[in-house]
Amino acid sequence: MELGLVRDSEHAEVDALVQDSGLPLDDIDHCRGTQFVARSDGKIVATAALEIRGDDAVLRSVAVAKDRRGEHLGDQIVTYAVQEAKRLHLHGLYLLTETAEGFFPRFGFVEEPRDAAPAEIQESVEYCHVCGSHAIAMALRLEDQQ
Ligand SMILES: CC(C)(COP(=O)(O)OP(=O)(O)OC[C@H]1O[C@@H](n2cnc3c(N)ncnc32)[C@H](O)[C@@H]1OP(=O)(O)O)[C@@H](O)C(=O)NCCC(=O)NCCS
Repeated sequence: MELGLVRDSEHAEVDALVQDSGLPLDDIDHCRGTQFVARSDGKIVATAALEIRGDDAVLRSVAVAKDRRGEHLGDQIVTYAVQEAKRLHLHGLYLLTETAEGFFPRFGFVEEPRDAAPAEIQESVEYCHVCGSHAIAMALRLEDQQ
């Protein structure tokens, strides 16, 4: 198993994984420089991306291949993305989720009102249009951990 940045030649494969997991692809091309993947036997089995906006980022497109869920690959790819966010000295990570609010607290994410996020985060496509208003907003303040 290998973790790293997505390669140009892998965009179609990673997009299929994100879409197959029921997640949007809007604006994903702006995130390729911070889109991470886990590869196993030559296949992408997990992915997560940071959509950097100012000093913060939206953690988005977190997906594990359906036939590989429950093997802690989600754990590994999110841990990797959080480490990269710290390396980039980002202040905080924000996400919206409709299905996985029980998954993210293990990384330190806490639920908070979506209007508590920085303005630049609230202006992201994900916050403006994509995730329904019933989605739960969560935040991880990295400044507290650096
Ligand atoms: C959510 C997702 C990324 C989890 O990936 P995964 O590799 O199956 O999860 P892991 O095996 O790393 O799970 C780690 C732990 O989180 C728990 N967990 C996994 N998914 C969970 C969920 N949706 N809600 C609550 N807990 C969850 C697991 O039970 C496991 O707990 P344990 O350590 O006590 O055994 C995966 O189910 C997925 O791709 N879902 C579809 C896309 C999605 O909803 N993405 C998040 C959108 S923001």
